Parts: sequence; structure tokens; C-alpha cells
Amino acid sequence: MTLPALGQYCMPAEGVSLTPKPQLLATDEVLRLAELFVREGVTKIRLTGGEPTVRKDLVDIIASLKQIKGLETVAMTTNGLVLTRQLVPLQRAGLDILNVSLDTLRPARYEQITRRKGYERVRAGIDLALQLGYSPVKVNVVLMRNFNDDEICDFVQLTEDRNLDIRFIEYMPFSGNKWDYEKMVPFKEMVDKIQGQWPDFFAMANGPNDTSKAFKVPGFQGQVGFITSMSEHFCGSCNRLRLTADGNLKVCLFGNTEISLRDALRSNCSEDDLLALIGAAVKRKKKQHAGGSCPKTSSPPRWPPSCQLDTTF
Ligand code: GTP
Ligand code: 5AD
Repeated sequence: MTLPALGQYCMPAEGVSLTPKPQLLATDEVLRLAELFVREGVTKIRLTGGEPTVRKDLVDIIASLKQIKGLETVAMTTNGLVLTRQLVPLQRAGLDILNVSLDTLRPARYEQITRRKGYERVRAGIDLALQLGYSPVKVNVVLMRNFNDDEICDFVQLTEDRNLDIRFIEYMPFSGNKWDYEKMVPFKEMVDKIQGQWPDFFAMANGPNDTSKAFKVPGFQGQVGFITSMSEHFCGSCNRLRLTADGNLKVCLFGNTEISLRDALRSNCSEDDLLALIGAAVKRKKKQHAGGSCPKTSSPPRWPPSCQLDTTF
């Protein structure tokens, strides 16, 4: 079996060069921007990646975010490698929601994908999260044809007696990740495969801004979700903004247009000017993401938004 570009969808074999620290947002800059976004209507902030646990001040950031009045939820998406060491302090700091990326249940395959050992540690981290009351723990599985699509039912089986939300993600094209259509397993094909084993596997209701379509095997404790960015995009209900580790605002996961809020902050821009910059960027958001065709927006989204901010580290 040839190894597809799964590991490479995150990081090349030689690794990535670290952004020099002065270019990254400092803790107080993260918090200033978070406060501004929350004041304008953001109610949920997700710390995501890259990998948020590489940030030494993560516990402090979460504790400070939790002090912001009006912010209801602090979430994190992680590779799960350090949860057994860090989850207790992270929970104590106030981490509300935990998503873990895990693309295989086979240790050797895990090593192939991530180029490191650690499968058992990630599984132990997920078990710990369940014990600590994260309910459910969301597990993100990027599914790729002829690589890990033979594990769909093994992942679903995990939900029988655990409160996991296994979310199968359609493989998406990001710059340089060697995406090709043949590697992408569409949502409907995944559902057919699962219904081959559990014919009563059924669709449940979804929230208005959910990224995933929820399903369940009757009687199983946990549930299954499908993130159908490619076959059935959900751009029309997308309420997310992203702030990169170096302070760029991205209005779409797929978009390349970024504006530097870090530079604006460092040039002592007033809050009104910052809001104007953010508002202009949001108005440039396209009607549909650039992972497929990308027509210009016909009705620009509203700003201030009732929305979620994803902060990448
Ligand atoms: P919850 O809010 O807890 O459901 O998590 P999430 O799905 O927003 O966050 P997570 O970091 O776990 O992201 C999982 C996957 O959701 C990503 O890999 C993307 O496939 C998809 N996703 C998240 N945000 C966006 C977005 O803004 N646009 C698109 N197209 N997909 C997104
Ligand atoms: N396609 C789909 N999902 C991806 N992720 C990273 N790269 C891709 C891609 N090319 C997922 C990770 C993680 C989440 C934040 O994004 O697996 O769970």
C-alpha cells in the first residue's frame, strides 16, 4: 500500500520552520483581540492548530479567556498527544469542549501518518477526557480512500459504550497537500458503508451552525458525525472567523485573504479602526468556499456576527 499524503496534510516530513516568537501574537494581544470579538458578539472561542498544546501559556490563556464576560464556551482541537499530562490543568483553567484528531485505530498506521509513536497516549488522553466529564469527546477522523476507509466501522463501534462523537471529515484541498478527488470519500458513501453493518444507522437533528451532520446507531451511547465540506458544503450557515497564530484574520478556512490584526494592534490602531478592518474583511467573505468553485458573495454576512472565533496556534 502506498502512503498517501495524509501525514503531509498537516506537516512535511522535514517539519516546518517555527515562526519567530516576535511574529506570534503575545498572550496579551490574544486576549485583547478576544475581548474585542466577544464584545462584538462572539460567544465561543476554539483554540486549534497547528497544535495549541505547543503554546506554553495555554493554561493561562484559557484561564484568562474564561474571565471575559459574554464568552460562553472555550473549546480546543488537539492531536491529543499531551492530554494525559495537560488535561487536568486545562480543565481546571476552564476548558469546556475537547476535540481530538485521530485518523486511525491502528498503532502502526498512526506512526505512518504522524511520523511518530503516540497512538496509545492519544487513546489514553481520550479515555481520561471521558473520565473527567467531557461529554461527548469529539474525535475528528479525516477519511482517505485506500488508506483508512477500511476503519470506518471500527470507529463507529467505539461509540457503542463510550460517549464519543466520531466525526468523519471529507478530505479537503489545502495548499500543498496533494489533494485529489479520488482520495476523498464522500459522505453518502460513508453512510452506505456504515448502514451495511448497522442498517438502522439514522440521521439526527443538527444545530443551525454545526459543521457536522449527526447520526447514531440506535442503542449506542455515542454518536457519529460527517463533516461534508466537499460534497455538501455548509458555507451558507458558516459563522466562523479564524485568527492565525501570527495574528491574521481569515474569514474562511479555505481562503487565502488575510489581514493582519497583529500589525494593526502594534501600530496602536484604535478599536474603531480595528472593527472597521474586521468588518471589511467579513464583507469580503465569499458565498462559497474556495475548495470548489468560489463565486463572489451576493449577500455579505452581517457584522457584528453572532459567531465563533477559531484561534490557531
Ligand atoms: P465543533 O464546533 O465542536 O463542532 O467543532 P468544529 O467542527 O468547529 O471544529 P474542529 O476544529 O473539530 O474542526 C473539525 C473540522 O470541521 C475541520 O477539519 C473542518 O473540516 C471542519 N470545519 C471547521 N470549521 C470550518 C469552516 O469554517 N469551514 C469549513 N468548510 N469547515 C470547517
Ligand atoms: N481535510 C480535512 N480535514 C483536515 N484537517 C486537517 N487537514 C485536513 C484536510 N486536508 C483536520 C484535522 C483536525 C481538524 C482541525 O482539521 O484532522 O481534526
